Formats: sequence, C-alpha cells, structure tokens
Amino acid sequence: MNHSYLLNRQEFGSQEHIGNLMSLEDAMELLKDWVKNEKLLFHMQQVGHLMKKYAESRGYDPAIQHLWHLSGLLHDADWDQWPEQHCRRIIEELETRQMDPRILRAIASHGPRYFGVEPESEMDKMLYAFDELSGFVHAYSLMRPQGYDGMEVSGVKKRLKDKTFAAQVSREDIADAAAKAGIAVEDLIRFVIDNQLRQV
Ligand SMILES: [Fe+2]
Ligand SMILES: [Fe+2]
Repeated sequence: MNHSYLLNRQEFGSQEHIGNLMSLEDAMELLKDWVKNEKLLFHMQQVGHLMKKYAESRGYDPAIQHLWHLSGLLHDADWDQWPEQHCRRIIEELETRQMDPRILRAIASHGPRYFGVEPESEMDKMLYAFDELSGFVHAYSLMRPQGYDGMEVSGVKKRLKDKTFAAQVSREDIADAAAKAGIAVEDLIRFVIDNQLRQV
C-alpha cells in the first residue's frame, strides 16, 4: 500500500445526532449514486444483511437492527469512486448529513490496521468481524457447484488455510476480528453460512 488510509482522528459525528438514521431507501439512493460496481454493492448488501441478522439474533429492537444494517450497508460506499479516500469520504458525507455517530464510528473502525481506529462497541466489532469473512464465504460459494447449499464450516476453514484461495482476503484480519469480538472463528463462519444474503 503506497498511501495511508489513516483517519488521524478518534471522534466521529456528534452525540447530539444519536438516533438520526436514514431510511433504507435513502441509503440505497446514496449507494446507487456512488457505487457503479455491482460486486461491491452486493458485498455491502451482504454485510448489511449479516449485521441486521446478528442484531436480531441478539434480541435488539428494530431501530437498533436498522442501525446495524446501515453500518454494514454503507461501510465501503466510497471505495468505488474514491478508493484513495476510503473510508474518509463516506464518513464526511454522513457527518454532513448529521447521521448517528455510532454508524460513523463503526465504519471508521472496520479496518483498524488501515484506518487507525480500534473497534470498541459490539457493533464496531461485528462489522469488522463480518466484513472479510462475508466476502470469503461468498468467494467459496462461487467455486462450489452447489453454491451455499450444503456448505460446511470445515470446508470454509480448509479454504482459509489454503493461502492461494481468495489470496486477497487477509486471514490475519479475520483472526484478529474474531479475537476482538470474542467469538470463535467457527461460530462466525456458522453464522455467515446460515445468514448470508445469497442474491438480491
Ligand atoms: Fe473497507
Ligand atoms: Fe467491506
């Protein structure tokens, strides 16, 4: 990497804006504007869906599920057009729109090695945990004749050990994210297999 993604700050948005959540329609509008790459759009929809499902599995109310959904849905929104400004650009956009600071912080900490912001809240940690793993499991589904059907945790683990498979996916980040979330990688894989959005 020949340029720095470091955000060089630790405060995002304003506490006064807690509870300001855009509608799903507005989030999709923003994504339609910013993201021409359909694979990237699908990645964000997959991560958003996992986040929503996870919040639901924890028994959180619909507003919190929506908060989690938005964090996943928007986390890479600037990657298509402004990769060098990832994820500064989307954070600035959401600050301008006075969005809930919890979304901003989750987005800012989805790659601690790159952005220099540690995931703190459960939502921060789960976004970090699902991001790479979701993409990895999806890549695995694409090479299986039956796609997601009959996919096993052990099959995903075997591919994780095979460094030539989906080589761009950082195994280090997957392990680090699981450790930070305090969840075994196997359990995360299970959740992704069971809840991953297969198509839109
Ligand atoms: Fe990202
Ligand atoms: Fe991502």
